[in-house]
Amino acid sequence: MSKAITGINIVKEYGGRKVLDGIDLDIDRREIFGLLGPSGAGKTTLIKILTGQIVQDGGTAFINGKNTSRLMGEDRRRFGIAMDDFGIYERLSCFDNLKLFARLYGIGNAEITSVLKKVGLSDAAKTPAGKLSKGMTGRLKLARAFMTDPDVLFLDEPTNGLDPVSANEIHKIILAEKERGKTIFLTTHTMTEAEKLCGSIALLNEGKIVERGSPKDICRRYDHQRMLKIHLADGSDIELPYNTDSAARLSEFIGKGLAETIHTSEPDLETVFMELTGKELSA
Ligand SMILES: Nc1ncnc2c1ncn2[C@@H]1O[C@H](COP(=O)(O)OP(=O)(O)O)[C@@H](O)[C@H]1O
Ligand SMILES: [Mg+2]
Repeated sequence: MSKAITGINIVKEYGGRKVLDGIDLDIDRREIFGLLGPSGAGKTTLIKILTGQIVQDGGTAFINGKNTSRLMGEDRRRFGIAMDDFGIYERLSCFDNLKLFARLYGIGNAEITSVLKKVGLSDAAKTPAGKLSKGMTGRLKLARAFMTDPDVLFLDEPTNGLDPVSANEIHKIILAEKERGKTIFLTTHTMTEAEKLCGSIALLNEGKIVERGSPKDICRRYDHQRMLKIHLADGSDIELPYNTDSAARLSEFIGKGLAETIHTSEPDLETVFMELTGKELSA
């Protein structure tokens, strides 16, 4: 079976400026891939190219093995998209919003009801979309992406602007889809979200991927200091170089029950991003 998503040297220019500058991607099935980058990095533009909404100026993209510049109706059924300003009509109820979309694909009311249930919006079926809370709106967007029961889901900043409780509800839904065998491509500018959800990520800055791998591997790669941080029972903190010379002291701390916590010094993704770009991810 083909890779879920492939990008080869994708370039997109606006007004002579390269907003995507040679993007290569290979995304396996059944994984959650996270594209991380600050506002303006090019995340939404890349999703639009990968889903055939706009055409790139250079390079090639494939989804489910199909060239994204030549997608047919049946190819489009096999992926779902949730992004801002993507087909939510405020005056229509949740049910009617989904119905509008479902009819394009010949999907019946039973499926609409079942998708609303999946995202926890059964009770809001008749509520106009404009009256939903932010978290519920986020879930309605997911519901729309789920309508054709696609293999691949593109979720553009699915928790942007949400409180932690609402974000967590969305995380649960995303993880459940992964468990069902879906491939998920999500964008975010919160590293905690990426660390929690994603098996692999790419850091995007000014149209270029500056680092990629699993969140843990990336952080390990940037652990320049290789220190052990030990919090002692008396409240003091000490640091030891993470090497064999420290083994005796470490063993003493543990043996005497003096060490309350021990941590390695690898940075978090935010710090790695800052090192690579001089910018904050969440700015
Ligand atoms: N239709 C467009 N016309 C001109 N510039 C655009 C257009 N869409 C996006 N851009 C520019 O491309 C860059 C990347 O935008 P975008 O993909 O929306 O970034 P992100 O989603 O990471 O915030 C930004 O500088 C943005 O202003
Ligand atoms: Mg965006």
